[in-house]
Amino acid sequence: MPLSPEYVRRLHKYDLRVLLALERLMQRYEWVPDDVLRAAARLSEKELAFRLARLIEWDMVRHATVPYAGYALIFPGYDAIALHTLSQRGSVSALGSLIGVGKESEVFSGLGLGPVVLKFHHVGQQSFQAARKERGYMPEGAHCPWIFASARSAEQEYAALQRLSPDVAVPLPIDRSRHVIVMSEIPGATLNRCTLEAPEEVLDEVLENVRIAYRKGVIHGDLSEFNIMAGDDGVWLIDWPQWIATDHPNAEALLRRDLENVLRYFNRKYRIEYPTEEAVGVVIG
Ligand SMILES: Nc1ncnc2c1ncn2[C@@H]1O[C@H](COP(=O)(O)OP(=O)(O)OP(=O)(O)O)[C@@H](O)[C@H]1O
Ligand SMILES: [Mg+2]
Repeated sequence: MPLSPEYVRRLHKYDLRVLLALERLMQRYEWVPDDVLRAAARLSEKELAFRLARLIEWDMVRHATVPYAGYALIFPGYDAIALHTLSQRGSVSALGSLIGVGKESEVFSGLGLGPVVLKFHHVGQQSFQAARKERGYMPEGAHCPWIFASARSAEQEYAALQRLSPDVAVPLPIDRSRHVIVMSEIPGATLNRCTLEAPEEVLDEVLENVRIAYRKGVIHGDLSEFNIMAGDDGVWLIDWPQWIATDHPNAEALLRRDLENVLRYFNRKYRIEYPTEEAVGVVIG
């Protein structure tokens, strides 16, 4: 189901109660048993059946009969409760169009006090397993479905924006609920989609921002032409969920990889020769 604010608006308080109960119970159950859900949602059997039928039809909840009868929250349901919270807090009043789809996220334009951007982190089961290993998201064996991995990913990205903004050119963090972050809209396009008039200056500006981020203890970890935006007002670095701290044992290797990605791009597209060592020096030096 494409995310639609219509569905959020249509949510009845009992629908919401069921979604919130499921969210809580999924910390303990992969599939929440019928009776457990009914007790938690404090609804009659008939009312709960009615609410679940709607939520299943809207693709917010899934029903399983094996290994036992139970229910699970799925992404659109999680999206809906996050949006509901953000709209109640007043940080989002309208959801606009889809502006980007990545491996692990969907990005929408929206309205808050002004134009905003909403990033929905959708970390899948597979990539979650990899993330657990690589980044130590969760202790081995802990029960942690994708919804919590996604919330964790949004939390990480939001933390980076809070730490870096406004000294580093990143989107302004506005609010977060669960796996959704709200940030300011960047007026520009990613480097892979624009042709720069002054590429040397842009490269210098990118390195300067990487340097300030480094001084604040943060390495991007996935920097490339796809995660740098440029417009009339300069450049911005976006997409921070995988950032790592400068005291991490792999810090230098990851910084080097970030810089190599950027330099390779400027070399291929604009024939700029910039030695990696010099860039490392600019950032660390
Ligand atoms: N603050 C913003 N303002 C304007 N556009 C944005 C903003 N944040 C993201 N975008 C747009 O959305 C696209 C995707 O965003 P982002 O790079 O953060 O996530 P992603 O690439 O989907 O993440 P993943 O690494 O999981 O694939 C960007 O390429 C950009 O076009
Ligand atoms: Mg990206």
